[in-house]
Amino acid sequence: MKLPINFYKPLAIGAPLPLRELPIRLERMLHFFPPQVEKMRAKLPEIARQVDVVVGNLEDAIPADAKEAARAGFIEAATRTDFGQTGLWVRINALNSPWVLDDLLQVVGTVGHKLDVIMLPKVEGAWDIHFLDQMLAQLEARHQISRPILIHAILETAQGVNNVKEIATASPRMHGMSLGPADLAASRGMKTTRVGGGHPFYGVLADAGTEAGARTLFQQDLWHYTIARMVDACMAAGIRAFYGPFGDFQDDDACRAQFRNAFLQGCVGAWSLHPSQITIAKQVFSPDVAEVKFAKRILDAMPDGTGAVMIDGRMQDDATWKQAKVMVDLAKLVATKDPDLAAQYGV
Ligand code: GLV
Ligand code: MG
Repeated sequence: MKLPINFYKPLAIGAPLPLRELPIRLERMLHFFPPQVEKMRAKLPEIARQVDVVVGNLEDAIPADAKEAARAGFIEAATRTDFGQTGLWVRINALNSPWVLDDLLQVVGTVGHKLDVIMLPKVEGAWDIHFLDQMLAQLEARHQISRPILIHAILETAQGVNNVKEIATASPRMHGMSLGPADLAASRGMKTTRVGGGHPFYGVLADAGTEAGARTLFQQDLWHYTIARMVDACMAAGIRAFYGPFGDFQDDDACRAQFRNAFLQGCVGAWSLHPSQITIAKQVFSPDVAEVKFAKRILDAMPDGTGAVMIDGRMQDDATWKQAKVMVDLAKLVATKDPDLAAQYGV
């Protein structure tokens, strides 16, 4: 076991001190772009103004013969774009792939000083984080990068889910985790052919005799268990949880429902793979105006956060005060970026 006293020490001479607190940032949508496509690179400055985070994708969905073009395209776009307050992330290839070494050497070596987070796919256990942690410390030292690059793990293998707590606490570089439902479905042997979302056959049938005519099958959320485990592991470690991709771009309602379940369960954002999903994520991961107003009434009614009061017939105490604080703190963060919502929230 690593001694607690060493946890926050840099892993290489000349690497920056690890952060003790995550920077507070709005990360409602992690917007993916394929950097080998010139048209997408050209649109990047405009997209970056609309989203909270842009993620250059080097991994799955990039054809093997375009991996180098994607890496070069990402470096080119990252170099010339001013991202302002928008986060700049990259999803590198898996640690056992033939591309990851050059992904790290070239991306960190050229645009490492601009990079906020590296998204690491197919994380199986803490050992994967330790490897990347050490490697990043070496690269930060070599390239005089003064701000530590954070690590975001994709939770998308059965073994990763088994080890989710160890992954969350593996390093002070941990930013958070995303559920990767497509790879996870394959790794688990689930009998599906989808990227996230529900399945019409996964449900509970109403009891026989309770309804006239055909019995209703109530569809259930396939991802509930994994999201709950991920949120607990992340929040206990002080890092952030995200829902990942939703692959059916025709079905905005289902995407919204999946994102909303994740939001209610504790996630702070989701991936957007299509422009329509930017709008959905912005709506879902910005708290509801009526909820924020009610939360403010709780905070106002209990200035020191203790005791019990009744508001509109509902009991409020220290625990609802804390829930209200989560909501109002998030609303304040959203308000820094969205003047319309700031006015509606009244924060
Ligand atoms: C994302 O990478 C997924 O596999 O769902
Ligand atoms: Mg995947």
